[in-house]
Amino acid sequence: MLTFLCSLPILWQIGLLISVLLGGFKAYLWYTLGVCTSTKKLTGKTVIITGANTGIGKETAIDLAKRGARVILACRDPKKAAIAKDDIIRESGNKNVVIRQLDLASLKSVRKFAADILKSELRLDVLINNAGCATIEKTLTEDGLEYQMQSNHFGHFLLTNLLLGKNITVNALHPGVVHTEVQSVPSLRGFQENNDSLISPVFSKSAKEGAQTTIHLAVADEVANVTGEYFSDCKIAKTSKLAKDAGLAKKLWEVSETLVKLKPEERHY
Ligand SMILES: NC(=O)c1ccc[n+]([C@@H]2O[C@H](COP(=O)([O-])OP(=O)(O)OC[C@H]3O[C@@H](n4cnc5c(N)ncnc54)[C@H](OP(=O)(O)O)[C@@H]3O)[C@@H](O)[C@H]2O)c1
Repeated sequence: MLTFLCSLPILWQIGLLISVLLGGFKAYLWYTLGVCTSTKKLTGKTVIITGANTGIGKETAIDLAKRGARVILACRDPKKAAIAKDDIIRESGNKNVVIRQLDLASLKSVRKFAADILKSELRLDVLINNAGCATIEKTLTEDGLEYQMQSNHFGHFLLTNLLLGKNITVNALHPGVVHTEVQSVPSLRGFQENNDSLISPVFSKSAKEGAQTTIHLAVADEVANVTGEYFSDCKIAKTSKLAKDAGLAKKLWEVSETLVKLKPEERHY
């Protein structure tokens, strides 16, 4: 076998080596992949998913709709949301999928969204703060906050506080490296010729694979009473030292309350 390999032209040898390495890496990803095994139905439950028109959010919406949930797609672009809604209904067979406009980079939009939900929905069982963006350029939102921080953190912070009820569990997760639109933001294109050249699908999970931990946390009975944990691949994962710094967490909470202008009567802690 070795003699045969050595007799091949050098370019073939290199090509073969690269194929074996990539195949091995993909096999490792597949082997370590966390998969939600719960068959739980969500009939009668209501779920909100932010950023549900694409990527991990859309795959999560399809799965939860298949389980019978009422799924609210909280999206900033109504046109993209309408296309996604059709796909989700077609793939899940569940027509109880609705769109509500939400731009997390606008505190006004977050407040309007929350007020609409509180007025129109009879219940809310699961809130999935999924939307997010990655950008290098520094821009400010209409609220004077840094765009990425507001889209990823402050917007969700306000939303969660406005929708909070009692007796909830809260967990965070990392989906893994997932091949979605977040990897092709315009500000990153300076480093890449196209969406695939920076982090190709070979090195990434698919959106469906990336959605597994989110789905697991939304449905699995074994995590129903788990709170304050960090998950990866459907398992509790180690956090950094910074994430365990209670003083820093308190400071972030207080600064966030101030920056999103949370009113005293809206504060639950
Ligand atoms: N993909 C990864 O490798 C990876 C790794 C770690 C963490 N994550 C996190 O996983 C989550 C889902 O990401 P993804 O990979 O599925 O990315 P994606 O395909 O780019 O989807 C992101 C979603 O968030 C929405 N969004 C962005 N900014 C928003 C805003 N201001 N208001 C409302 N919606 C907004 C997007 O809406 P538009 O379609 O209108 O832009 C889109 O629906 C994100 O929080 C991301 O940070 C992803």
